[in-house]
Amino acid sequence: MNGYTTWESLPVKPLPDRNNIVVTSKDVSIPGCVVVNDPASIVKRHERGDEFVVIGGGTMYEYFMGHASKMYLTIVDNTFNADVLFPDIDYSKWYVSRTEFVAKEREDGFDLSFTDFTRICE
Ligand SMILES: NC(=O)c1ccc[n+]([C@@H]2O[C@H](COP(=O)([O-])OP(=O)(O)OC[C@H]3O[C@@H](n4cnc5c(N)ncnc54)[C@H](OP(=O)(O)O)[C@@H]3O)[C@@H](O)[C@H]2O)c1
Repeated sequence: MNGYTTWESLPVKPLPDRNNIVVTSKDVSIPGCVVVNDPASIVKRHERGDEFVVIGGGTMYEYFMGHASKMYLTIVDNTFNADVLFPDIDYSKWYVSRTEFVAKEREDGFDLSFTDFTRICE
């Protein structure tokens, strides 16, 4: 599931081998995708047991952060100019369930780390 801006930015669409959900206020149909105008409807389905994966962008991470049970973060070891940010994470609500470091493979690449977080049950 992604917001409309991220959808526009995808080099390949729809993304293969998965259900594609695009959140937008627009009254559009997008071939190969389910268009959702109200993300609250996704939260309701999630509460009934359906699983969703949010792949961005900033508005979607912000909206769904409070409902997520897992986060899969890729940290790119560099500094970039950005006009969209991932929301602040309250680390007291999550524990690390996996972490993996990948050293840069090419001279022009970056070190990466993959960290999976699971929400601490309250
Ligand atoms: N690093 C990462 O993990 C990552 C992942 C994905 C994307 N990105 C980057 O993030 C940027 C895009 O993020 P973004 O925050 O600007 O945009 P976005 O979240 O991808 O999409 C924003 C759009 O989603 C729709 N939307 C959002 N909330 C809605 C709501 N409550 N109801 C109905 N529609 C809603 C609206 O579309 P309409 O205007 O059509 O109504 C809104 O303009 C891009 O630069 C992308 O490359 C980064």
